[in-house]
Amino acid sequence: MPFTEVLPARLCALAPIGVFDSGVGGLSVLRAIRQTLPHHPLLYVADTAYAPYGERPAAFIESRASHIARFLVREGAQALVIACNTASVHASKSLRAQYTIPIVAIEPAIKPATAITKTGVIGVLATNQTLASASVANLCATYGSHCRIILQACPGLADQVDRGDFDSFATRALLQDYLTPLRDAGADVIVLGCTHYPFLSPLIQSMVGLGVTLLDPADAVARELLRRLNLPPQAPTAQVRGATADELFFVSGPLAKGQAVLSGVWGGAPSVVRFPQSR
Ligand code: DGL
Repeated sequence: MPFTEVLPARLCALAPIGVFDSGVGGLSVLRAIRQTLPHHPLLYVADTAYAPYGERPAAFIESRASHIARFLVREGAQALVIACNTASVHASKSLRAQYTIPIVAIEPAIKPATAITKTGVIGVLATNQTLASASVANLCATYGSHCRIILQACPGLADQVDRGDFDSFATRALLQDYLTPLRDAGADVIVLGCTHYPFLSPLIQSMVGLGVTLLDPADAVARELLRRLNLPPQAPTAQVRGATADELFFVSGPLAKGQAVLSGVWGGAPSVVRFPQSR
């Protein structure tokens, strides 16, 4: 069903921005976009049938990203935001080769981390596929020669967030395993290199202490989007929470489950429809 048949006609005057991720993680980026563009129509695809991406082959991730991008462009998207580090490192190049509209990708905030660390030790939490990528190797080589950068893969963590499980015994146990090497090494900056992890920020912060800075590049992505759309920089509006009529969410997995998790994470009663697999 095309975008124009689902949202009120008034919204179709403005071409939407298409945003996607494997699951709900990209909502951390969507939230930053919504705060700078409070009334812009936004389409969000959560590829829940194939989440998590983090342990999947690079070619598979690229093919899913290409399929989703094609769909969003057909729906009239004027720009795409890859709200997923794993898909960004494996698919941004090929998507930019296919489309002329702005395509904004996300990358772990390693560069800013190297500029603010005092201990010289930085931890990067991300998926295996992100950490194994040439992009992360380049960021470390270009900006991190004076630092010790600990790349910590976090299998299972994105799944906890996709279940809406932000503070259970299981989530804490996973984080305990992943944070201990960073804490033992004296990391004073932790890069949240997966868009799912900002939803765990309160728990992570409570486990590592207030002396450790957590970096989430979502606001930088929103600013880059405005720049690419030639819109003036805007101060984020007060905390935006809850669904509006200006968002439409697509899920490739079970609809009822997608509705429940999206409503829990985004707030309110978001409009959620099935992502059409065959288009
Ligand atoms: N949110 C994603 C990222 O930023 C992917 C997590 C996953 O699907 O494994 O990498």
